[in-house]
Amino acid sequence: MNGQGKTFYITTPIYYPSDKLHIGHSYCTVATDVMARYKRMQGFDVLFLTGTDEHGQKIEQKAEAAGVTPQQYVDQVVAGIKELWKLLNISNDRFIRTTDSYHQESVQKIFKTLYDKGYIYKGSYKGKYCTPCESFWTESQLKDGKCPDCGREVIDAEEEAYFFKLSAFADRLVKLYEENPLFMEPQSRLNEMVNNFIKPGLEDLCVSRTSFKWGIPVTFDPKHVVYVWVDALSNYITALGYGNEQYHDFEKYWPADVHFVGKEIMRFHTIIWPAMLMALDLPLPKKVYGHGWLLLEGGKMSKSKGNVVDPVVLVERYGVDAIRYFLLREFPFGSDGLFSNESLITRINADLANDLGNLVSRSAAMVGKYFDGTLPAERHAEPLDDEVIAIAKSLKQNYETQMEAFAFQNALIEIFKLVSRTNKYIDETAPWVLAKDEANRPRLASVLYNLLECVRIAGILLTPFMPSTAPKIFEQIGADAGITNYESAGTYGLLPADVAVHKGEGLFPRIDVAKELAALEASKEKAVEKAPKGEKKSVPAKKEQPQPAEGVASLITIDDFAKVQLRVAKVTACEPVPKADKLLRLQLDDGSGTPRQVVSGIHPWYEPDDLMGKKVIVVANLKPAKLRGVESNGMILAADAGENEVKVIFVDASVPCGSVVR
Ligand code: MSP
Repeated sequence: MNGQGKTFYITTPIYYPSDKLHIGHSYCTVATDVMARYKRMQGFDVLFLTGTDEHGQKIEQKAEAAGVTPQQYVDQVVAGIKELWKLLNISNDRFIRTTDSYHQESVQKIFKTLYDKGYIYKGSYKGKYCTPCESFWTESQLKDGKCPDCGREVIDAEEEAYFFKLSAFADRLVKLYEENPLFMEPQSRLNEMVNNFIKPGLEDLCVSRTSFKWGIPVTFDPKHVVYVWVDALSNYITALGYGNEQYHDFEKYWPADVHFVGKEIMRFHTIIWPAMLMALDLPLPKKVYGHGWLLLEGGKMSKSKGNVVDPVVLVERYGVDAIRYFLLREFPFGSDGLFSNESLITRINADLANDLGNLVSRSAAMVGKYFDGTLPAERHAEPLDDEVIAIAKSLKQNYETQMEAFAFQNALIEIFKLVSRTNKYIDETAPWVLAKDEANRPRLASVLYNLLECVRIAGILLTPFMPSTAPKIFEQIGADAGITNYESAGTYGLLPADVAVHKGEGLFPRIDVAKELAALEASKEKAVEKAPKGEKKSVPAKKEQPQPAEGVASLITIDDFAKVQLRVAKVTACEPVPKADKLLRLQLDDGSGTPRQVVSGIHPWYEPDDLMGKKVIVVANLKPAKLRGVESNGMILAADAGENEVKVIFVDASVPCGSVVR
C-alpha cells in the first residue's frame, strides 16, 4: 500500500465566520476532503484540518450591530459552518477555532517568542483612517479615495503597533522557491509572488492593533491585540499541539504535506507563513496549492449583487455527491471557473444520470433479467472485450498520476473514459441480442461480467469524490468490502465468477432542466457574501473562458462523436400529435426491451402509415424534451433533401433493432 506507515497532513484555510458560506467556500473544503479521503484510501495516516478565523474588527462590528457579544456572534455562525460541512460529507479530523483557548495560549507564546528573538518590534502604523468605522485602510483598499465600508472621508492617522520583520526574509524566501520549485503550485503563482511582492521589496508586517478589542491580547502589552495573520496562520501548528497541551501531534504531522488555499491568500501562505516559521526555526510546509475561484457571470459572488450560490439549496435538490462531483469535474483546480446552474444540471444529467447511473443500473438489471441475478460460471471471451478491459486495467495508474498532481478534473475524466467506453461496449455487444439464443449464454455471461468489473473499478476510484454513492454501487453489483479497497482497483477480475447482483434504486435521476432552472432562480439570494478579499477589480468572467479559434469551432474529435449514441430502431406505432401540425409521435423498438417514445417534426412529409414497421436511426442519448407537452426521448435522423424537403434515413430491414450506428 502506498501510504502504509506514512502520515499525510492537509489543511483548508480557516474561514471567516462573518456569515453563511457560499459555494465558492465549499469548493476548497470539498477538494481538501477528496484528497484526504484519497490518501486514507491509500493507507496514509491522514490528518485533515479545517476551522474558523474568528477575530477582528469586522466581527466585533457585526456582533455589535446584531446586539450580541462577539463570542455569541461567532458561536452561532460557526455552528452553521459545521452544519454545512456535515451536509457536504466533509471528513475533517479536527476543527480549530481561533477563539479556542489552547490556540490563544499558543499564539501568545508564538508572539512573545518572535518578540524575544527580535523579529517583532514596536513601531507605528500609518494609514488612512475612517473615524466612524474605526478602521485603518491602505491606499489601495480605498474606494474612490473614501472608506470602502461606509463611503465616508478618511483621514491620515497613526497608531502604535507591533511589526514583524518580514523584510529580513526576502533572500531566504527566494532561496526556498529556487531550491523547492514545487513549494507552491500551480507554477504560475510563483511568478506572481516573486514579481509582485518579493522584487518590489518586502515591507514589515503590522501584527498588532489597539483600535479594537476582539483579538488575542499581547501578553506583554495588553492594550494590543494580535492582528490577523499571526493569529490565523498559526492555526496549522497550534491544532497539532504546538505551544499547548491540547494535542500532542506536532512531531507526528508537521510539516504539513499541503495547504490548500484560494489564490488571493497565496501571498500570506507562501511569504508570511514561511517567514514566520523560519523565524521560529520550524520546518516549512511541503507545499502550498493555490486554487482558482468560482465566478459567476459578471464576476465574484457577492451578497450586494444578489448572486451568491447557496450550497445547501443545491445539495437539497441534487444530493451531496452530485454537487461534490460537479465542483471537481467542471473546473480545473488551479484556474478560475464560471459557475452556472445550467452547467451544473447539464453535467449531472450527462455524466451522472446518463453515463454512470445508466451503466450501473443497466449492468445490474441485465444480470437480473438474463440470469436471475446470479452469473453462471461458464464464459466465452472475445477480442472485442480487450479494449475495455485494457482501459479498466490501466485506470488506477492514470488516476493516481492525476490525483498526485491535484488534477481532480483529469482524474475524473480518466474514470469517465472507462464509464463511457463501457457503455459503448454494451452497444457493441448488444446483450439483448445475445440473450435471444441459449447458445450465447457463456458469451452473454462474459459480457455482463466485464460490465460489473468495470463498474467496480470505476466505483472504487470514485469513492473519495462520491463517498455516499460508491457503497450503493458496490451493493448493486455485488462487490463486497474485500474487493472495493484501493489496491483492488489495480487488479481486473476480482468479482467472483458467480457474482450475484442486487438491483437498487437509480443513483442519479434525470433532472428536468427547464423546471429546475426556474426553481433555482426562485431560490436565489439564500447565501451571504464572503467574497475573496484582496481582489479589487471585478473579474470579467466571460472573457476568461477560452474562445475557440475561428474556423475550427465546428470541428469535433472522434471522442466527441463517440458521445452520440446512434441506434437502429423499428417504428412500432405512430400517430399525429393533436393540435400540432408538424409533429408525429412514434413508438420505437430500440432493442433495449423498453419501448422508446420519440416526437418528430416530420408530419409535413410523412403520414403514420409511411413509417410503420420501418427501421430508422435514433439518437439514443439525447436529453429528453417535451414537444407540445409530449415527452420525446431522442430523435430520429433525417436529411434535408432540398428546399423544404426532408427525408427520413431508413435502415435495411435485416439490421437488428439496437444495432449501433457509427
Ligand atoms: N480567514 C482567511 C484565511 C486564513 S487561513 C490561515 C480567509 N477566509 S475566507 O473565509 O475569506 O476564505 C476562505 C477560503 O475560501 C479562501 O481560500 C478563499 O479563497 C475561498 N473562497 C472564497 N470565495 C471563493 C470563491 N468564490 N471561489 C473559490 N474559493 C473562494 O481568507
